[in-house]
Amino acid sequence: MSKSHPTAAEVEAARDDPKQANILYHDWEADTYDEKWSISYDERCVTYARDRFAHVAGTDGWPYRNALELGCGTGFFLLNLMQAGVIEKGYVTDISPGMVDVALRNAKQLGLDVSGRVSDAETIAYDDATFDLVVGHAMLHHIPDVEQALREVLRVLRPGGRFVFCGEPTKVGDWYARKLGQATWWATTNLTKLPGLTDWRRPQEELDESSQAAALEAVVDLHTFDPHALRRTAESAGAIDVEVATDELTAAFLGWPVRTFEAAVPKEKLGWGWARFAYTSWKALSAVDEKVLSRVVPKEFFYNVEITGVKP
Ligand SMILES: C[S@@+](CC[C@H](N)C(=O)[O-])C[C@H]1O[C@@H](n2cnc3c(N)ncnc32)[C@H](O)[C@@H]1O
Repeated sequence: MSKSHPTAAEVEAARDDPKQANILYHDWEADTYDEKWSISYDERCVTYARDRFAHVAGTDGWPYRNALELGCGTGFFLLNLMQAGVIEKGYVTDISPGMVDVALRNAKQLGLDVSGRVSDAETIAYDDATFDLVVGHAMLHHIPDVEQALREVLRVLRPGGRFVFCGEPTKVGDWYARKLGQATWWATTNLTKLPGLTDWRRPQEELDESSQAAALEAVVDLHTFDPHALRRTAESAGAIDVEVATDELTAAFLGWPVRTFEAAVPKEKLGWGWARFAYTSWKALSAVDEKVLSRVVPKEFFYNVEITGVKP
């Protein structure tokens, strides 16, 4: 069962406290998060997680004997990397207790060897030099002090250990993703008021709940990244061999309207055919982005940034 949504007073209280806002928002989202973001633990997401990791960090060192995930959410990145054979033993952490519970439940269902703790990424609840690998996906942009989190990452890594963070929004990518998302939401929620289209409209209270979630989202999203500045942050935290990569340009132009449209209409309206269309089109555009556009378009125009580095 999903937690009841936070009250307006709770949202207001969290407005000046991004960590509290993250706990509130992600605890609320935990039970429905996989469905909302089309997260799965099958070939589709296993391939996605493995390819994102390999794109920035290569395949040397696989399998890592043990790995820690920060801001694990429901376990999307670490659990799928384990299934891909990248990691043997996994540890999940998140500032949201609800998310840690769901990640451990997912790991158990998949039969994976995973332990977990509630932990703030700025003060990681593990000893020095414990892990061969630290990973995170779509979480650095929620951390108030990213450099402090990276210093903590280096503290818990063994010398020679690697970190890999993927799925962070670039400054330019976040701008166009938001514009595309807002336009799609506006068009869908207005067009579905028209006679003949009203059965494509979600009940008003569900739309209101989504808008309230969007208000909290604005409080928890703290950063967007310039890839070159992110590299400098990792280096000043003490990392060596730092590499950054980016991906998804036309794939993001499609992906954000698709995800927003899916959130704005009743689920039963979109069947298997829609899911296949969305996935195959996204895959085809991702291939164009990687094979063609990445050669001519500057890094900072792509939507996702990925970073890796090593503890000296
Ligand atoms: C956008 S979600 C991504 C979840 C998951 N990694 C994924 O890709 O599906 C960001 C996650 O970071 C967590 N988070 C936010 N602030 C954090 C902090 N200071 N320390 C640890 N985790 C944090 C949130 O609770 C949330 O689960």
